[in-house]
Amino acid sequence: MKILRTIPEVRAAVSDARRDGQSVGLVPTMGAFHDGHLSLMRRARERNHLVVVSLFVNPTQFGAHEDLGAYPRDEARDAELAEAEGVDILFAPAASEIYPHGFATTIHVADVTEVLDGASRGAFHFDGVATVVTKLFGIVRPDVAYFGQKDAQQVLVVRRVVRDLDLDVRIEACPIVRQADGLAMSSRNVYLDADARAQATVLNRSLDAAASAFEAGERDADSILSAADRVLADAGIAPEYLELRDAETLELVTRVDRDALLAVAARVGAARLIDNHLLSSISSATDRTGA
Ligand code: PAF
Repeated sequence: MKILRTIPEVRAAVSDARRDGQSVGLVPTMGAFHDGHLSLMRRARERNHLVVVSLFVNPTQFGAHEDLGAYPRDEARDAELAEAEGVDILFAPAASEIYPHGFATTIHVADVTEVLDGASRGAFHFDGVATVVTKLFGIVRPDVAYFGQKDAQQVLVVRRVVRDLDLDVRIEACPIVRQADGLAMSSRNVYLDADARAQATVLNRSLDAAASAFEAGERDADSILSAADRVLADAGIAPEYLELRDAETLELVTRVDRDALLAVAARVGAARLIDNHLLSSISSATDRTGA
């Protein structure tokens, strides 16, 4: 595996591969790899000749009072893990390589950025994500880019950029990877002390309770959300948001008669955690008929 720091080096390596007719898969990351990241790398490895992983803690997607300074960083460990997954190129640029002096462009996506994490963290967050991901697509020019479904809103934002700007890349969202007790894998889980770690499973348990109500036939959004809210309240967690939204447009739904995203964000101990479940009318109908 090559560790590359500059845009020209990445361009040259990818051009060589393309000249040989190879497909290119990109996994954009901010490092601090866990099994969620590794599952994206594995998927990219299965499907592409050349696998590029970017490792860049993107400052523009962090707010002034967020955890940019504390965000876990261990490039040596990340490089070992990526190499073990058969990654070909780890692109780990300095901030000045991505945002050189005079950098003046921001990609802003409307609509899907205005709710959930966009409302909770601020519009800058998805502006930062959309801008850096667009840059990474321009640098690597991947055939396919892999993102985790845990950041479901991020996936929708990136899909919207690709659609609206006619970018020639396919976006693949990969399933959430969970620990044995249901906690979604996240680089921010390292902020949890033992008590908070035990408490953090409540996010997934609350979503499970709502999903069970849905699977049992409940379609009223408030009733489904109440099932989740009760579990959170019992654990003493007041969510930043707990919402049911259309899985494509992120419009609020009052009845779940099409695919809906059930999304939660909450502070647990020192960590701000997010999680989600997709409530799918198709799989629910299939489950109930046993097909
Ligand atoms: O999901 C992440 O790790 C980041 O938001 C991404 C997509 C790498 C952009 O910085």
